[in-house]
Amino acid sequence: MTHRPTSRHGDQTLALLTDPYRRLSHLFEQAGADVVETRLALKETTCLRGREAARIFYDETRIVRAGAMPAPVRRTLLGEGGVQGLDGEAHRARKGVFMSLMSPARVARLGELFEAEWRRAAVEWAGEDDIVLYDALQPVLTRAVCAWAGVPLEPHEEAKRVRHLRALFDAAGSRGPRHLWSRHARRRVDAWLGSIIEDIRAGRLSPDPDTAAHAWAWTRAADGEPLPIHTAAVELANVLRPTVATSVYIVFVAHAMQAHPDAARLADADAGRRRAFVQEVRRFYPFFPAVIGRVRAPFRWRDLVFPEGRQVVLDLYGSNHDPAHWTDPEAFRPERFSDGSGDPFGLIPQGGGDAATGHRCPGEGIVVELMERAVGLLADLNYRLPDQDLEIDFRRLPALPGSGFRMETRDAAL
Ligand code: HEM
Repeated sequence: MTHRPTSRHGDQTLALLTDPYRRLSHLFEQAGADVVETRLALKETTCLRGREAARIFYDETRIVRAGAMPAPVRRTLLGEGGVQGLDGEAHRARKGVFMSLMSPARVARLGELFEAEWRRAAVEWAGEDDIVLYDALQPVLTRAVCAWAGVPLEPHEEAKRVRHLRALFDAAGSRGPRHLWSRHARRRVDAWLGSIIEDIRAGRLSPDPDTAAHAWAWTRAADGEPLPIHTAAVELANVLRPTVATSVYIVFVAHAMQAHPDAARLADADAGRRRAFVQEVRRFYPFFPAVIGRVRAPFRWRDLVFPEGRQVVLDLYGSNHDPAHWTDPEAFRPERFSDGSGDPFGLIPQGGGDAATGHRCPGEGIVVELMERAVGLLADLNYRLPDQDLEIDFRRLPALPGSGFRMETRDAAL
């Protein structure tokens, strides 16, 4: 008999919006399986978690992305026409441009720019009673990534650009007016970056050849024509937005450092331990809940039929906390990464498989670089923590400590 672990709770859209990180785990626990059939946004959906499931999800002969991403996500977080919705050769060609921007030397350069901007900002933080780290990081990251990507950022427009980039990832998963604000921000970011692409093509701007702005302005589509301006702008935003979103992970670095001071001291003192600490932050804390695709051609897996067109969701947070693969998954233990992170389907906060050929995030090198630098910068910064709500709010998307991580920084010196 075919085993059909099915959720008895009807459409999960609302439940997922209210509990975006843990709702799927709850369904898996209830069903006693790592595969659950349910309904999402009124569509039949198969939800998966774990290493074996990730292998299935990232097998492009089985799962494709075209048309899979829900419209509210495309109209805010991702933009329309970007690499996330492509498959096959078109995807590989577009992805190659992202990968070419991520050489170790270029990633290290972004790290240096970030560190210089942090040190400049820290002088200002020392003149203030306190700062909210989440808010304070976004201008720092925006300045660093714009300089790195060859995108001019005039001082008078900086605050506006920071607000719009932040709204793309911070407000996209909300309902009501905040979601509409994210849509507005998407239009503004696309228009801003579109005008930069136009300036480059018209010779009014000449960013260095190794920058993202240069790459996206001059990338050609399969027909040999330059990418449409809007598409080039969306891809340039695909570099800027997630780099600014690393503010979420850096807040979690700070959170983990205060919660585990011994591990934090070891991480500050030793490069290998710093890498393991950062990998455990990426495993342990919630950020991107899940990814979504569609069945390309019917197949069976674990006695279950996956019909053509079926919506499939891979639970990233749940996979990183899967008790079948992680010993004591709810404990923060950097030692689990002391031999590296190994299996491409094991630690998957930014997707699984191979970034060059599949949809795995091309920005992991950047994220790890910025988080590792943040360990040292936070250890050097002289600050105190006032009373505040440090509990992670799992209902928020992205999740954050209730306070955003408030720090008393008066006279803080680096
Ligand atoms: C894709 C997470 C940072 C660029 C993704 C995916 C996730 C993710 C979950 C989807 C994987 C999939 O569809 O299978 C994150 C997180 C980040 C981060 C949590 C921390 C802030 C970055 C950075 C960049 C970047 C710094 C670039 C500078 C992209 C792009 C894609 C992507 C272009 C689409 C890849 C594709 O569809 O082939 N990311 N990412 N991300 N990420 Fe990241």
